[in-house]
Amino acid sequence: MPAIFTHLRLSSKNTSRHTGARSVIVAGSLVACALLVAGCGGVQSSLDPAGREAARIANLFWWMAAGAFVVWAAVIILAIWSVRVRPEAHNLRRTRLLIVGGGAVVPTVVLTVLLVYGLAPIPALVGPAPEGSLKIAVTGEQWWWRVRYYPPGGEPVVLANEIRLPVGEPVEFRLDSPDVIHSFWIPSLAGKVDMIPGRVTRLVLKPTRAGVFRGVCAEYCGASHALMAFNVVVQEREEFERWLAHQARPAEPPVEPTPARGQELFLANGCSACHTIRGTTAAGVIGPDLTHVGGRLSLAAGTLPNEPDDFRRWVAHTTDVKPGVLMPPFHMLPPDELQALAAYLKGLR
Ligand code: CUA
Repeated sequence: MPAIFTHLRLSSKNTSRHTGARSVIVAGSLVACALLVAGCGGVQSSLDPAGREAARIANLFWWMAAGAFVVWAAVIILAIWSVRVRPEAHNLRRTRLLIVGGGAVVPTVVLTVLLVYGLAPIPALVGPAPEGSLKIAVTGEQWWWRVRYYPPGGEPVVLANEIRLPVGEPVEFRLDSPDVIHSFWIPSLAGKVDMIPGRVTRLVLKPTRAGVFRGVCAEYCGASHALMAFNVVVQEREEFERWLAHQARPAEPPVEPTPARGQELFLANGCSACHTIRGTTAAGVIGPDLTHVGGRLSLAAGTLPNEPDDFRRWVAHTTDVKPGVLMPPFHMLPPDELQALAAYLKGLR
């Protein structure tokens, strides 16, 4: 074959290989962008705010990201320019200008502007909630959340691992911990605040949109740090009041024989040494209050769904589900007893 044809064939092969590679890069970039954008939504995203404070933080993030992009683009353009332009004689004046301007003046100005812009929202984020606002105390335990509501003029209500809030109203959280440092974070609603032993920290937030969101512990606190979550339900005022009034009431005694047997087993197996079920003799305070545990959205602090099977699994295999947990596994109980316990606990709505 004449050389010219071989060359043409090879170059057409090269071109098609290039086009193929380019398509792969474009497709890959599109998929990456789609994944990135999809990751911005959901029940646990600070970039999809459902609260006043989270919106401020998201706004700050986008301005900072835009600032970072402008600086990055300028550096890349300069780098390309320095490689592409025809080299010329060294100009000392221009070099000094670039070093002093680009190395000292521009970063100082940009960082000062971003610092002032970043610090500006802080007073509003750490200030107290207005008089008469709902107050909730949350204690970080290993690895769950002790929640106490202080309704204005009412008795405190002790709950665990789930928080409900009225939409459009500021709420004040008082946060503490008895042993290790945790961090209380509901990304959709506000920023994170550490829970520090021996100290009470404060977080004020105002949910602006009803829905179910996810809160997490944002500070490494031990073996099951990643299994320390909670659901946050933001709802209308009347719905919230109905819920809180129900949570304040003691548990209804079981009617059916299986859950009634479950209650007997609960009291006979020593569960009441650690757990409270208001309306029964169980008054332990080491573990979570279980008065209305069956009505919560999750089990074991956001680790399992809240179904009878999950109660069974949790009670029998606590340390497998949540390594390092204080509650011992009750795998020695026969299946029918576990089933009765699960029926009783799920019935506590
Ligand atoms: Cu609690 Cu990490």
